[in-house]
Amino acid sequence: MRMDWLTHELEEIKNQGLYRKLKTIDSGQTPRIMKDGRELVNLSSNNYLGLTIHPKVKRSAIDAIEKYGTSAGSARLISGNFDLYNHLEKKIAQFKGTEAAIVFGTGYMANLGVISAITTRGDLIISDELNHASIIDGCRLSRAEVKVYSHKDTSCLGKILSESKCNKKLIITDGVFSMDGDIAPLPEIVEIAHEYDAMVMVDEAHATGILGKHCRGTADHFNVEVDINMGTLSKALASFGGYIAGSSELIDYLRNRARSFIFSSTPPPPAAAAAIAAIEVIEKEKPTKQLWKNVEIYKKALIEMGFSISSQTQIIPLLIGDTQKTLEVADELERLGVYTIGIRPPTVPKGQGRIRTSLMATHSQKDIEKGLDAIRAVKEKFNLM
Ligand SMILES: Cc1ncc(COP(=O)(O)O)c(C=O)c1O
Repeated sequence: MRMDWLTHELEEIKNQGLYRKLKTIDSGQTPRIMKDGRELVNLSSNNYLGLTIHPKVKRSAIDAIEKYGTSAGSARLISGNFDLYNHLEKKIAQFKGTEAAIVFGTGYMANLGVISAITTRGDLIISDELNHASIIDGCRLSRAEVKVYSHKDTSCLGKILSESKCNKKLIITDGVFSMDGDIAPLPEIVEIAHEYDAMVMVDEAHATGILGKHCRGTADHFNVEVDINMGTLSKALASFGGYIAGSSELIDYLRNRARSFIFSSTPPPPAAAAAIAAIEVIEKEKPTKQLWKNVEIYKKALIEMGFSISSQTQIIPLLIGDTQKTLEVADELERLGVYTIGIRPPTVPKGQGRIRTSLMATHSQKDIEKGLDAIRAVKEKFNLM
């Protein structure tokens, strides 16, 4: 009796076509993956630079296990602060061009930790309507007043700020939007922030290693400075964990006030070592260049097929709309040998179901061609635009 509500809730989710099931991959996160005994082209990876299997990255992770074991065994402020973590934070700060950095268990925890530490009741957060769920949850946890501005609409942002009487104001935006692949208008956001004395925080989860002269992300791409630079180690950096980069004072404050840092263990040593090695590979071998070449080829072909593409990056969604149809297209792509995921609400707004495709630097021309052939076939079959 006590738990009967669960059956009802699950049925509701199923009736709405929103039931989620785990799909199992029998290989690593590579351009071709194994699933149910078949090899599929992987158009659904956040391992954008393919570094999870780079020999230097793997070697560093293995060496770290040999030296430190498999776990930090504690939170950083207790006994889990190995020299390795100090090294990782220094490396992130140097890579990002900031004074300091702090590492969290995940990117999700970094967003929760920083937003709830720097804002509270009486403060104002202004957040883009398409920001990631971890930002939304961080805003809820902060107890600050939250106002959502229309996607990338800086006049809406300015209007909200001009009407606010709050002392402390924080603007938060994704750098590259995770389900659309478009880029936040950071120069305009920073200008408005200065006008109204607001702090700016950018989530660089999908931009780190990808955008900008130094591959630092969106701020680097536009050559502007932001107050709080958030990111994850789990996408282009081929590892696991999250971070905030910024001034020494900000990082010092977060060590003392960010609850998801204080009360949670750090990523395991091999994850820290892998991230350090991945940054070094990005700096020395510049795998990002090949990613952009692949993106150009792929986007050009989709546009020639008649898709309207507004993505500016390696994340390229094919908009479908209807939830059921989105799932059918994903299934058909898989039948044709291509792995993608149908994205439905609440991850995207209602009626905006999509196939989120993403490219990797390590995709070969053949992989891309196979992906495009399958997309061409589903476009015909489902009459996609
Ligand atoms: C924009 C954005 N921010 C934060 C996160 C959370 O990062 P992590 O997977 O390290 O928790 C994600 C992950 O999907 C993301 O897309």
